Amino acid sequence: MRTELDLELLGQTVQDLYRFKQGEVMSAVVHLGMRLGLFDALAGNDGATSETLAAATGLHERWVREWLHSIAAAGLAEHDDGRFNLTPEAKATLCDPDHPAAVGGVFGPPITHREIDRTAEAFETGIGMTWDEHGAHTCHFQAAMGAAGQKTWLVPVILDSIEGMTEKLTQGATVVDIGCGAGVAATAIATAYPRSTVIGIDPSVHAIEAAAARAAEAGLDNLEFRTGTFDDLADLEDVDLLLTLDVIHDLPRPGDAVRAARACVADEGVWFVADIKTRGGLEENRGIPVLPLMYGMSILYCMSSAMSEPDGAGLGTLGLTEGVFAELTAAAGFSSVDTREFDIDPLNRYFEVRVG
Ligand SMILES: C[S@@+](CC[C@H](N)C(=O)[O-])C[C@H]1O[C@@H](n2cnc3c(N)ncnc32)[C@H](O)[C@@H]1O
Repeated sequence: MRTELDLELLGQTVQDLYRFKQGEVMSAVVHLGMRLGLFDALAGNDGATSETLAAATGLHERWVREWLHSIAAAGLAEHDDGRFNLTPEAKATLCDPDHPAAVGGVFGPPITHREIDRTAEAFETGIGMTWDEHGAHTCHFQAAMGAAGQKTWLVPVILDSIEGMTEKLTQGATVVDIGCGAGVAATAIATAYPRSTVIGIDPSVHAIEAAAARAAEAGLDNLEFRTGTFDDLADLEDVDLLLTLDVIHDLPRPGDAVRAARACVADEGVWFVADIKTRGGLEENRGIPVLPLMYGMSILYCMSSAMSEPDGAGLGTLGLTEGVFAELTAAAGFSSVDTREFDIDPLNRYFEVRVG
C-alpha cells in the first residue's frame, strides 16, 4: 500500500471528486428538465433557441438558456449558434418511457437532507431506513431502474426460460410478486396472461399506492396489490410462481423470508428470484460496471433496509452471493436451485428454486 503523495494521482483524485460532485449537480439539472417538461419540449423542437423553448414551455428565457447550456455542456444536446437539438440518444433515454434504454424515471428528486441526516444517524445507531421511509418519490425512481427490462423482456425471455411456465401462465396460474415495489413486473405479467391471477405484495405504502395506480391505469381485473411482507405469505398457499426481484439483499431477516417462500409455493411450483450478480467481496466485484454506484446505493437504500430492524442481516446490494443463497434455500428445505444469467440483464443473476 502506498504512503507517499503522488502529485499526478493527486490531480486525478481531485478530478474524480469533482466528477462525483458534477454527477450530483447534473442529476438535479436532469431532474429539473424532466419535471419542467424541457426535455420533451426540446425533443419536439429541433433547432430550438432559448426563446422558442421558453415560449413552448411557458418558462423564463434566462433560466431556460442556462439549462440548455448545461445539458449541451454535458453532451445531451448539440449546439450550433444558439440553436439546440437533443441528441437522438438523449431523446431515446429521457423522452421515450417505452424505449428499452429509458432511464428518465431514475432522475426523480435528488436525495434529500432528511435522508442524509437519517443515514448519518444510522451510522451511529446501526438502524437503517426502510424503502418506505425515504418517501413517495423513491419507489418511482427505484422502479424506473428496472422498468425497461421488466416491461420488455421479463415475460418473453426470463419467465419463458422456466420449463413449462409460459404454458402454465397462459392456461391460468397463481402468481405472487413479493417485494413488488411500484408493480411494474406484476403489471407486465398480468397483462401478458389474462387467465392468471397476479398478486403484488410490498410493505411500502408508497410503493403499493403507485402500483395500484398503475393497475387502475392498465384496467386489469386479474391483478391485485396489497401491503405486506414475506411474513404475510403465510396467508397464501399453492402459489405456482412466486417472484422476488431484487429484494432478498434488502431484507433484515432473509432466513425467515426464504422459509416463508418455501411454505407458500406449490409442490410443482417455482420460486423465481433475481438479485444482483455479486461475486462477494470488494476485490472480486471490481469488474462490475458502476461499482461505486452499487455500494453507494447500498448505504443509502439496500443495506439500510437490510439493517432497518435490530440485528438486521445487512446483506446490502452486493451481499447475496450464490453461496449465501444456496445456504438459505437449503436451510429452508428447497431441494433445487438452478442459477441462470442472461446477456440482456448484465446486472442480475436469476435463481429458479423448486420444492421437489
Ligand atoms: C429494490 S426494491 C425492488 C422492487 C421491485 N421488486 C422491483 O424490481 O422494482 C426492494 C423492495 O423490497 C421491499 N421490501 C423490503 N422489506 C420487505 C419485506 N420484509 N417483505 C417484502 N418486501 C420487502 C421494499 O419495500 C422494496 O419495494
